[in-house]
Amino acid sequence: EINDYLCKYKGYVFAVGMTTAEHIDSLQSFEIRERDVFLVTYPKSGTIWAQNIIALIFELDDTDETIYENNLEKMPWLEYPEGHSDYVSRPSPRLFASHLTPALMPRGLKGKKAKIVYVARNPKDNVVSYFHFCHAWTSLETPKSFEEFLQQYLAGNVGGSSWFDHIREWHTHRDEYSILFLTYEDMVMDLRSAVVKISQFLGRDLSEAMLTHIIEKATFKNMKKDPKANYEFLPEDLLQKGKFLRKGIIGDWKNSFTVAQNEMFDQHNIIRKTQYPSPVMNIR
Ligand code: PPS
Repeated sequence: EINDYLCKYKGYVFAVGMTTAEHIDSLQSFEIRERDVFLVTYPKSGTIWAQNIIALIFELDDTDETIYENNLEKMPWLEYPEGHSDYVSRPSPRLFASHLTPALMPRGLKGKKAKIVYVARNPKDNVVSYFHFCHAWTSLETPKSFEEFLQQYLAGNVGGSSWFDHIREWHTHRDEYSILFLTYEDMVMDLRSAVVKISQFLGRDLSEAMLTHIIEKATFKNMKKDPKANYEFLPEDLLQKGKFLRKGIIGDWKNSFTVAQNEMFDQHNIIRKTQYPSPVMNIR
């Protein structure tokens, strides 16, 4: 245990109360099907956004069995034990989200069996989004200040561990998986192209009407109002105040970082020799 809020297992930090080391370990042998789809992200990188897009891409296939009340049930987080009881009986394609690193993912994912969509976000915006989220999510410690949280983030002492390790691990191991790298910035700047990219990768040809429908549903404004997708369905004891859909923009870090914090961050980037998977993440 790192503190009352965080646990570290095999180098991966997770929030106490969300999952356990035993459960994470059990995922190694989780049986993978060819048509499974995994959305993998570092927290606060656009997970619920991409989750909504993927859920919408498969919407036409929905039968009584696959219509769920909300996106969390339709595309649950692999590492959170809640809801796991029906995964074996779910019809394909099963959809999962995860914040795990490659070493902790089911072994069966290697060999390019199932598909993985990996969404990354510029770490400066990511840390600001995370900072705000820590005030809203009850199982996370409320940071005393942005400075304090920034230090924890750079040290990897936050749920999901180090952003820098997460990106590096997934990017380094990319050839072992069938994986599409996408960035939050790609999605903000050109949602249509991002949706096309995801659907093509998942082997789904979308009609023009379907494409328009998905884009419409996935805009920040509309998603914020969508009770299936906005996570306001979560009980109040989990999400006290604050929202999953907060601002939804690129460059909000400029409103939180001081000049000194920005220099420190850039220095950390240099020391870590961070290779961004896409140049659009390098927005200053
Ligand atoms: S979590 O807790 O890891 O699942 O959070 P995650 O969904 O990864 O990240 C939340 C941030 O994604 C933004 N978001 C969006 N931006 C633009 N358009 C849409 N439709 C959208 N949906 C979610 C959300 O606002 C959070 O970013 P910030 O910067 O805090 O606004």
